[in-house]
Amino acid sequence: MKIALVGYGKMGHMLARAASLRGHEVVCTVDPFAEDASVVTGDVKAMADAIVKSGAEGVIEFSHPTSVLANIRALVPTGIPLVVGTTGWQGELESVKALVAEHGSPFLHSSNFSVGVNLFYRMVSNAARLMAQFEEYDVALFESHHNQKADSPSGTSLDVARRVMAEMPRKTTLITDPFTRRPEPQELHLASLRVGSVPGTHTVFFDSSADTIELTHTARNREGLALGAVRALEWLSAQDGGKLKKGVFTMNDVFDSL
Ligand SMILES: NC(=O)c1ccc[n+]([C@@H]2O[C@H](COP(=O)([O-])OP(=O)(O)OC[C@H]3O[C@@H](n4cnc5c(N)ncnc54)[C@H](O)[C@@H]3O)[C@@H](O)[C@H]2O)c1
Repeated sequence: MKIALVGYGKMGHMLARAASLRGHEVVCTVDPFAEDASVVTGDVKAMADAIVKSGAEGVIEFSHPTSVLANIRALVPTGIPLVVGTTGWQGELESVKALVAEHGSPFLHSSNFSVGVNLFYRMVSNAARLMAQFEEYDVALFESHHNQKADSPSGTSLDVARRVMAEMPRKTTLITDPFTRRPEPQELHLASLRVGSVPGTHTVFFDSSADTIELTHTARNREGLALGAVRALEWLSAQDGGKLKKGVFTMNDVFDSL
C-alpha cells in the first residue's frame, strides 16, 4: 500500500519504519518544519495536492494539536482513507463527523493506537462495570507523560475517564484541575504529571476504606503506537465488497472486528 504521512516528527519517523516493516511504501511525507520531509509546507492546500499527486492510498496524520483540524478539513475531501493520531481536537468531533458524512470518506481516529492500551480500555470498562455495584469504592485516575507533551490531560486518560463514567453512573463530573477543596462524591478526579521521558502511564484507582485496587498500563516505548496506527490504516482501507468504508471509526471498530 502507498502511504502518505502528515507530520514528520518523532511519530512520523516511527510510522515510516513501521509501514516499511509491514511491506508498505511511504510515498509522501509532509511537514512545515522537518527538513527531511519530502514536502516542506504548512499550507493545507499544497499538502492535500501533494498527497493526491503522490498516489497515496492512505494517509496517517500525527502533527500538532494546533494544526490537526485544518489538516483534517483539507484531507477528508480527497476521499483517501485517513488515520488521525494527533490528540487535542475532540471538542470538534461533531463538526468532523459532519464533514466526513458530507464527503462519504473513510476516517479513523484514536487517542491511542497501542494494542496494549486498547486491551487496557476494555479491562477498565469491565472493572468499572463490576465496581459500580460496590458503593464503598471511590475511583480516580492518574496519568504521567514526558515533558515534551503539548496537551494535558492526555487524550488516552480522557478516554479512560469516559469509559469509567459510562459504567459508574455515580460519577457524573470530570475534574482535571487540582482540588483546592474536598471533592464531591459525583466528581471523578483525573490528575496529570509531566516529567522527563516517560512514554505514558495510565492508572485507575478503585479505593475503599479497606483496600485499593489499581489497574495500570505502562508504555515501554512508542513503537507499538506506530505499528497500531499502520494496522488501523490497513483495516480502514480494506475494501468491503469492492467499496471503501465510509464514516468515522475508532480503534474500537478495529478490535470489534477481530
Ligand atoms: N494517538 C496516539 O496513539 C498518539 C501517540 C503518540 C503521539 N500522539 C500525538 O501525535 C502528535 C505528534 O506527536 P510526535 O511525538 O510525533 O510530536 P513531534 O513534535 O515529534 O512531531 C510533530 C511534527 O508535526 C509537525 N507539524 C507541525 N505543524 C504541522 C502541520 N501544519 N502539518 C504537518 N506537520 C506539522 C512538526 O513540525 C513536527 O515535526 C502529538 O499531538 C501527540 O500527542 C498520538
